[in-house]
This record gives sequence, C-alpha cells and structure tokens, in this order.
Amino acid sequence: MKAVAVQAFGRPEGLAVIDVPVPVPDAGEVLIRTEAIGVGGVDALIRGGALAAYGFRDGHVLGSEIAGVVEAAGDGADGSWIGRRVWAFTGLGGGYAERAVAPVATLVPLPEGLAATDAVTLGSSGMVAHFALRRARFAPGESVLVRGAAGGLGTMTVQLAARGGAGVVAVTTSSAARGDRLRALGATHVLDRSGDGPDAPAGYDVVIDIVAGPEMPSFFRRLEPNGRMVVIGVMGGDPPADFGTELFAGFRKSLSFTTFSADTVPLDGWRAAIADLFEAAGRGELEAVVHEVLPLEQAVAAHRAMDGGAVFGRIVLTPSGS
Ligand SMILES: NC(=O)c1ccc[n+]([C@@H]2O[C@H](COP(=O)([O-])OP(=O)(O)OC[C@H]3O[C@@H](n4cnc5c(N)ncnc54)[C@H](OP(=O)(O)O)[C@@H]3O)[C@@H](O)[C@H]2O)c1
Repeated sequence: MKAVAVQAFGRPEGLAVIDVPVPVPDAGEVLIRTEAIGVGGVDALIRGGALAAYGFRDGHVLGSEIAGVVEAAGDGADGSWIGRRVWAFTGLGGGYAERAVAPVATLVPLPEGLAATDAVTLGSSGMVAHFALRRARFAPGESVLVRGAAGGLGTMTVQLAARGGAGVVAVTTSSAARGDRLRALGATHVLDRSGDGPDAPAGYDVVIDIVAGPEMPSFFRRLEPNGRMVVIGVMGGDPPADFGTELFAGFRKSLSFTTFSADTVPLDGWRAAIADLFEAAGRGELEAVVHEVLPLEQAVAAHRAMDGGAVFGRIVLTPSGS
C-alpha cells in the first residue's frame, strides 16, 4: 500500500510516497481503510524536526487522525466494528497511508451523512477546543480571546465559544481576509497577531493560546481579575524563561495559567466529546472548516501550504480510490 513517510526531516520536500506492507492490527487495535486523513500543525512540527527529542526516525509515517472503514480487528478488539465507518486516532504516526491501525479504544462511529473529510476536521481539534474551554472554566457571557485562531484548533475554539454564549470572542490572525472568515464562525473582534486592533477589548476572562512564544506574557497581562489563560499549542515556540515573574506581577488579580494537553483526558472522554461534535455538526451548529482536500500523494503540497501560513482550518488528504 502507499504511505507518506519523512525521508529527511526539515523541509516539506523531505516527505516521500513509499510502498509499505499493510499493517497488522495488534491486540486491542483495528485496521482501517482510510478515506480521509487530517493534516495538523503537529505533523508539520514532527516533519520539521522540532520534536526530534521524541525519537522520530527517518521513514516515520506521519498522521494521527483518520476516518475510514474498519477492515480487521486484532486480538481482544471487538469484531463488530468490522465494516463500520469510524473516526480514529492512530497516535503519533501511521495515518498518512491507505490503511492504518488504531486502538479500538479511540474509535468513534461516523453518523450517517457525515463526510470522512469533515470528521477529521472536527474530531481531534474540536475535542481539544472543548476541553480547553472546560479547563478554562469558561461560562456564558464571559469574554474569550483565541490566539492563533485561524488553524484547526482555533476555528473550532471560536465556534465552541460563540455557541457556548461568550459575550466577546476576540481572535488574533494575520490578515483581514482570515478575520472575515473568523467573524463568519462567530468572532466578534478581529485583532492582529499582537492582539491589537481598533476595537480591541481592554481585557478578557479567558485566553486560549495556540501560539505561546515570546509574545505570550503580553496576552497573560490582558486577563481580567480572576482571568484564566490556557495554552494548548506552541506554534510560536517556547515562552520567555522569565514568565514566572509575569505570573507573580499579576498576583493581586488572582490569575490562573495552565497548559492543556488532550493526552491527560481519558479516551472515553475523547469519544464522548467527539461524538457530541459530530452530532452538533449534523444539526448544523458547527462547521467543519476544510481548507482543501488533496490526494495523499500531494502531502508535500499540503505541508508547503502549512509552512506558508496559507491554511485556514484543516487540510485533508484522501487516498486515491476513496
Ligand atoms: N493541546 C493539545 O492537546 C494539542 C492537540 C493537537 C495539537 N496541539 C498543538 O496545537 C498546535 C497546532 O494547532 P493548529 O493545527 O490549530 O495550528 P496551525 O493551524 O498550524 O496554526 C494556528 C494559527 O496560528 C497562527 N500562527 C502560526 N504561527 C504563529 C506565530 N509564530 N505567531 C503568531 N501566530 C502564529 C496562524 O494564524 P495567522 O497567520 O492567522 O496568525 C495559524 O493559522 C501545535 O502547537 C500542536 O502541538 C495541541
């Protein structure tokens, strides 16, 4: 079968289409014929070499989020999944392929009528956005800033905050055109990457930050008393080493700062949240923001678009024949 592997970490051109054997599901796993594969910021970080410390090696097949049809089940995996259309999480790789294995514990059935391309756009991004807002103890009427709102996680966070009754949904983005698209998803205030704009709110109850990096303290400073900042991504790199000083400078405002990773959420929580997102999309309450659907063989083009900052929402890859 065809798969896309990292032959040389760094530039998108280091990705190559290779022929590999169809994987065999281990105990507790299923084999899935992929119909859609989500391309996420984390794939670009792995390919670029930023996560080398985790031990990725040449030949690593990227891709963590897929949707497709279950074809086989390993020992101990419920065989009644075979033939069903599902969303699945493969872990840190293996998804950019015509077939992939995934733990049965991650499977979420696709509701009738939900496109596989929409499922991989809503699934993990929406789940992370859902739990990030929960971690922030977000309540209706509060003001929310989503930093780095134009990507997969951000477009879902904006929609969930707006649907949850936020009083303000401010976003940072790099262009007016992206700002218009974010307004259509529920943003009330469009700001530049520094958080400035003609009508920028003075402060926020909640900041959901997908960027971190050197500018992170300036967003922490914008929290209202009792405000909560949750960092869920590191597109801008690490924050400054002296961020602890900033935390204490805001002592009398009783501010909270936390990171949030979906790795700390039990899989039954993932499944329940993703199933809810799929149903909400079916009712027309959430939009799967698919930037572009490309054939699996064009993974290099997908990654070029990611590196070029051109992607709004999610790129999805589809194997030929799907
Ligand atoms: N917490 C979790 O459980 C979890 C799960 C999955 C992924 N992640 C993390 O989430 C991140 C990827 O999220 P994603 O797929 O939504 O990201 P993305 O689409 O690649 O990027 C999000 C947006 O951030 C803005 N941005 C990018 N670099 C920036 C910079 N240097 N400064 C300011 N803004 C910048 C861009 O928008 P504009 O150009 O419009 O500003 C971009 O569209 C990764 O860090 C990944 O590790 C976390």
